[in-house]
Amino acid sequence: MADMELSSLGLDRRRVLLGGAAVLASPFLLTRRAFAAEGGSPLPLPPLVDADGSQPVTLTARAGNHAFVPGTRTPTLGYELDYLGPTLRVRRGRSANIDVVNRADDQITAHWHGAHVSGNMDGGPQTAFDPGQSSAARFDVHHPAATLWYHSHVHGKTGPQVYHGLAGFLLVEDPAVPHGLPSDYGVNDLPLVVQDRSFDSAGRLVYDISGMALMGGFLGDTICVNGAVTPVADVPRGLVRLRLLNGSNARFYDFAFADGRRFHQVASDGGLLPAPVARSHIALAPAERAEIVVDFSADTAPVHLVSAGIAQGGMMGGGMMGGNAGSGGAIEIMTFAPGTAPATGPATLPASLPAPPMDFGAPVRTRDFRLDMHAGSMIGSMFSRLIGSSGSIMGINGKSYDMGRIDAELRAGETELWRISAPMMTHPFHVHGTSFQVVSRGGQRVDPATEGLKDVVVVDGRGAEILVRVDQQADAATPFMLHCHILEHEDAGMMAQFTVA
Ligand code: C2O
Ligand code: CU
Ligand code: CU
Repeated sequence: MADMELSSLGLDRRRVLLGGAAVLASPFLLTRRAFAAEGGSPLPLPPLVDADGSQPVTLTARAGNHAFVPGTRTPTLGYELDYLGPTLRVRRGRSANIDVVNRADDQITAHWHGAHVSGNMDGGPQTAFDPGQSSAARFDVHHPAATLWYHSHVHGKTGPQVYHGLAGFLLVEDPAVPHGLPSDYGVNDLPLVVQDRSFDSAGRLVYDISGMALMGGFLGDTICVNGAVTPVADVPRGLVRLRLLNGSNARFYDFAFADGRRFHQVASDGGLLPAPVARSHIALAPAERAEIVVDFSADTAPVHLVSAGIAQGGMMGGGMMGGNAGSGGAIEIMTFAPGTAPATGPATLPASLPAPPMDFGAPVRTRDFRLDMHAGSMIGSMFSRLIGSSGSIMGINGKSYDMGRIDAELRAGETELWRISAPMMTHPFHVHGTSFQVVSRGGQRVDPATEGLKDVVVVDGRGAEILVRVDQQADAATPFMLHCHILEHEDAGMMAQFTVA
């Protein structure tokens, strides 16, 4: 296993080239095998595409070859691009107009993760479609300004498809509600999808989910941001908004800057916070997003974004990088190289932000969801998994996902209290079609002003409670999903589905 192979490697210091001058990189770099030895190439910027015009934009899923480090060719998947997809921008009050085309060699979807759309437009597993076919995504944008994303969602294949590249950003803007944040895409407003990947000696992506990698989720040994290994981004000397997306299949991060600087969080999964929140680090589980604003105005030297190595899921050792956490290490994510010119965007952060309302009201009913790692007989099904048959060990409330079974029926507009428990390890729990309010997490009450609207909540052994209200409809043919966003767990059946009428 890749994790084992690298577990004996330690930290090293090495040089990266920045603007022609050799500078000493931070000590937070991990030695990697030859293929991915050199990070430090420029941060790729996905093209920004308006997807709410009168003509549909085309989003074609296809195979490609992508250079994670310069000069290499790795077989990948992407939407329009060789790896990942363009940043689609839609504006509130308009309609998304996207034709998703399948030129891959297997079924795909494009699920609009976090978007408030009806079940038939959600891109869930029931809407998977074959190579050569296309699917029209037409939906009114009700969502407040937010950093959402899209990814393929074919049951049993989401893990490998996202791993190979079928994911991208979906940004919602609300032209009627000014916020005063840096918004110059690619200049002082950067989308950053952080993913861990593993490569073999020929540069091919490795996706091995046998044994423990199935239990804890797949962990790669190399950090990529926007498809480049630990890249460098040129930034203006001023305030820069970073839209962080944990697009990893299973890895949890706790992002911070190597110099310990503080920054401000301005948005979470579902939109803006009521006011910027000062932080020195921010934890993101798979599929979670946060927008942060960092002040580079006084910087003349490179600034390193790192992550504390986190014990994976509270259960497994976590492989190389998680294991490294035990010794207090951090892992390098990417570097920011402040330019010589001052920024042209806003010089100060607004004191308050136009956050979407959290008007859930009192819940009319309560539901319980238990995230199980032993639906059916754990030992028996683990054994069948090990010998190659498809026995499942993952489920919710004792049942593995079944596309033919509706697990819950909701009524549109009614607020419910959901109590989620996770007896075995920590899971990121996600609900389609809406944003929710976290009431408690990890045994603590949560302050909605610092948490914001969410569509993923981290559930550990102490459970989590959320207030959920879904305003969009979903019928039994195209229900909404609720699931663990560790993609290996989802693919193995830790998913359920619900209708909204
Ligand atoms: Cu990110 Cu069910 O999705
Ligand atoms: Cu989703
Ligand atoms: Cu899980």
